[in-house]
Formats: sequence, C-alpha cells, structure tokens
Amino acid sequence: MELDETAARLGVPVEDVERVHQLAGDRPSAPLPDKADARAILGRLAVPPDDTTEIMAGWPDPDSPHWTPELRWLLDRSIALVRADLGGHGWLSPGPELPRERGPAWRHLYAYAYLALVDVVTAYHRDHGIADAVSWVTLADLGRNLAVDRRMRGEGWPVMQSWLTLHARGGLYELGRLQHQRGDGAIDLHIPESGPLTPEAVAASLDEARAFFPRHFPDEHYTAFACGSWLLDPQLREYLPEDSNIVRFQRRFELEPYDEQEGPDADVEVLRFGFRSLTTPLDELPRGSVLQRAIIDHLKAGRHWQWRRGRFPI
Ligand SMILES: CC(C)(COP(=O)(O)OP(=O)(O)OC[C@H]1O[C@@H](n2cnc3c(N)ncnc32)[C@H](O)[C@@H]1OP(=O)(O)O)[C@@H](O)C(=O)NCCC(=O)NCCS
Repeated sequence: MELDETAARLGVPVEDVERVHQLAGDRPSAPLPDKADARAILGRLAVPPDDTTEIMAGWPDPDSPHWTPELRWLLDRSIALVRADLGGHGWLSPGPELPRERGPAWRHLYAYAYLALVDVVTAYHRDHGIADAVSWVTLADLGRNLAVDRRMRGEGWPVMQSWLTLHARGGLYELGRLQHQRGDGAIDLHIPESGPLTPEAVAASLDEARAFFPRHFPDEHYTAFACGSWLLDPQLREYLPEDSNIVRFQRRFELEPYDEQEGPDADVEVLRFGFRSLTTPLDELPRGSVLQRAIIDHLKAGRHWQWRRGRFPI
C-alpha cells in the first residue's frame, strides 16, 4: 500500500505516516504478549477494568475484524519506531494522533504498542540492574494515564501517547512520589497525580534518585534536578498559602528567565491538571479548591499562566 493511501485510510496527514515510515524503516518490531497472559500484565500495569475490557475485546488476533492492514502496519511500525530509540530519553511521538472513536483498535493502538514493548524495556531495565518493583511501578503509569484520559473524555491521550514512550524506552523511572527522567546533566522531575505533594515525600524521592542514577546509569553524570511545569509559575503565590505543598515545592527551585515561546501553553496545562478538562467554559468549571478558584479568576481577569523551568543542585 502506498503511504498516501495508508494515510487516507487512517484519517491522518500523510506527513505523519511518512515520518513513521522514515523513523521505523525496516527496523525490528516486537511481538505482543500472549493473549492468555494479557489480563495479568494489564493488572500489573494498573489498567482499569473498563480499559482492560476494551483492550481484550480489540486484541490484534490474526483474524480480528477490527484490524485492517493499515492499522496492523501502523502498530508494527510504531513499535519498531519506539524500540529503535530504546534507552533514549527525549520526547518522542510514536505516530499520528488517530480518530479513536472509530473502534477499539483505533482507540488503543498505542496501548498495544506499549504492551509489546514491556518485554523489551524490562530487559533493558534488567541490563541496568534495576529492580523489578521499580520497573512495574514505572510502567504502571499506563493505567494511571488511561484512567485520567477517560475522565478527560479522550482529551488527554494526544499528549499521553508520546509521554508513555519515555517509560517504554527506559527514559523515566518512578521512584516514590516523583518520576525522574534521564537527561543531559539534569534529572527532569515529573509529578504524577498520586495524592498530595508533601515535602517529606518529595525529599524521600530525591534521595532515592541520588542513589538510583549513579548505581544504574554510572556513565551519566547528573549535577541538578530540573523541572518544567505550570506548578513553578510564581504567580501561584498570589493565591496559594505559603505552607501549601505547591509553594513549598516551588521554593526548592531557581527559576530560569521566563520565555513565552518555551514549553506548552500554560493556560491549557492548568486546565488539564487542575480540572482534567480542556474545553469546559470557565463559568462551568468547579470552584472546589483554592487552586481551582485561582485558575479561573486569573484567566477571567484576562491574565495568563506561565510554564516555567527551574533547577536546583543535586
Ligand atoms: C501537584 C499536586 C499533587 C499538588 O497537590 P497538593 O499537594 O494538594 O497541593 P497544595 O497543598 O499546594 O494545594 C493547595 C490547594 O490547591 C488545591 N489543589 C492542588 N492541586 C490541585 C489540582 N490538581 N486540582 C484541583 N485542586 C488542586 C488543593 O486542594 C488545595 O486547595 P484547598 O486548600 O482549597 O483544598 C496536584 O496538583 C496534582 O495532583 N496535580 C496533577 C499532576 C500535575 O499537575 N503534575 C505536574 C504536571 S506538569
């Protein structure tokens, strides 16, 4: 099949298909786990029951009616594309954003790719002496993201499909409260939605990382922890109490000068993380917490939120 025909059948821009074709080439893919083992693996990956049911129903069996040749091509080449960058830690899109409402294969194509990569990345972890418990806790972000995406009615997935390639390439590790992404000289911190961000939990996670990276990645030299987030916007201090966890987290960092062009649009990111909806009108959003009221009032006053980067020495 020609690439333009593949793109038309997938309902995506031809450039996106050309990119997959170029990056994956004829590099090796990886098989999905046996279907008989899939439920147990989905359980270890914290995939919620609704998604488990859909993923099992849409399983890419050779005779599945859900899987057209172009979907099978994309699944196979997307796995190859991500696998080709095993050990990488940059942002990587696994392929085009799909019209997911077309069915379970469309909806979960990149989740199937992730499942195929579980064996590949856990072997990479083992080569680096990383404990099984860290592997599975890290990889279980798949389930957390699927659950959030369901709350977001699918609005979260376009970012998540790329985000999850970090886990699938060995680029990111969940150590206690925080996720730690390998980088060039700095460990980038990410904050999953998993309860309050207490200073004690943050300190414990940083301590874990201080031991983890020299032990498992001795060739990489880290001098700083870094973070890019809506959480580091100093304007939050106009609204949040000084003893709030977010403000206390902010105090650890020295901020880089603000660059409006850098990072994602913070007005969107505060809606993503403060409401889990990107499209609800401001007047219809809940005002249940001081943060939610701050986000709404700030935007209604015509002001903007900032995506800020900061760092502090290891
Ligand atoms: C980061 C996070 C754990 C901080 O939560 P926390 O520890 O409760 O933070 P604080 O103590 O500073 O909270 C201060 C106030 O804001 C509220 N708040 C904090 N995060 C909130 C969120 N994501 N949504 C709604 N309200 C929130 C708290 O309930 C509290 O309000 P209250 O006193 O009226 O109850 C939380 O925002 C979260 O889970 N975010 C999602 C993940 C995320 O944003 N990651 C970073 C991506 S770049």
